[in-house]
Amino acid sequence: MKILVTGGAGFIGSHLVRQLMEAGDEVISLDNLSTGLRENLPEGARLEVMDTHDDKVEDLFRQEHFDAVVHLAAQTLVSDSMVDPENDMYQNIAGTVHIMECCRKYGVKRVIFSSSAATYGDVDEKALPVQETLPQIPLSFYGLTKMTVEKYLALYHMAFGIHYVVLRFSNVYGERQGDGGEGGVISIFAKRLAKGQDITIFGNGKQTRDFVYAGDIARGIRLALTTPNADTCYNLSTQTEISLNELVTILSRITGKEITPSYGPVREGDIYRSSLSNEKAVKNLHWTPEVSLEEGLKRTYQYFQKQ
Ligand SMILES: NC(=O)c1ccc[n+]([C@@H]2O[C@H](COP(=O)([O-])OP(=O)(O)OC[C@H]3O[C@@H](n4cnc5c(N)ncnc54)[C@H](O)[C@@H]3O)[C@@H](O)[C@H]2O)c1
Repeated sequence: MKILVTGGAGFIGSHLVRQLMEAGDEVISLDNLSTGLRENLPEGARLEVMDTHDDKVEDLFRQEHFDAVVHLAAQTLVSDSMVDPENDMYQNIAGTVHIMECCRKYGVKRVIFSSSAATYGDVDEKALPVQETLPQIPLSFYGLTKMTVEKYLALYHMAFGIHYVVLRFSNVYGERQGDGGEGGVISIFAKRLAKGQDITIFGNGKQTRDFVYAGDIARGIRLALTTPNADTCYNLSTQTEISLNELVTILSRITGKEITPSYGPVREGDIYRSSLSNEKAVKNLHWTPEVSLEEGLKRTYQYFQKQ
């Protein structure tokens, strides 16, 4: 298959491009390198340095005849979306519609989109793990723009027949993750520990997250590229709640060091518990997360040690 990966030089993109190339697919990454890095990509990977809004994007579609597009490029920071909703809208909605127009004009058959747990908002703990059917009530502009793009894709399918799969990721972590983004806490901790620095937990450390390894996310995206069960959304998650205190215990084991975090005040807007149900993806995408948290953390820590 010939696939365009927008945001291919980013964290999740770099895992996906590796897997696609290993599987023998033809891959082109489109990235403006705003947070991504050329060196995130494996040797021999083709990168087009462009912005999703550029007129040049249309030339690329005209020349390359992509079978599918995986759209990962985005403004990914919840906090930035609250400071500058206009830029968040420009990057995440206008940029996406430009990509979708190119898909429509040049006959792309399928689009995979990286959505987020942030589209659900602050969920009642009784609703955990969150299923895809739960009403989405985003609390950030980032969550709102992700939710809006989901609706654009559904309409592009209805109006023009372009197939789509929306994937709502929980907190993704792994090698090559930047400091920002949604799964940030692991990369921040791993990076600081690799440098011999202390770590701080905001709150009492009992808050939970559903951490999923980026390689597993990349495999989920690959399954979405060919699944007959398209034109719908799937959560990709481990469906397991891990507290930040538990995370520190595992990191102590991996690093062989006794880690004693400092505790700071709870950050405004932080949710307490988070977990997404992955039953639908297990049943219909035939996807299950394969890399345990311990193994994924080991890979992540070793990566930052080498940096
Ligand atoms: N990391 C997570 O935990 C997580 C969770 C849910 C959803 N997501 C989504 O997954 C996708 C990938 O996230 P990531 O964590 O790899 O982030 P990332 O910042 O590493 O990757 C995003 C990439 O897109 C590029 N980019 C941004 N705006 C662009 C534009 N206008 N034109 C071209 N390229 C542009 C960046 O340079 C970067 O390489 C994003 O859409 C993000 O919202 C991530």
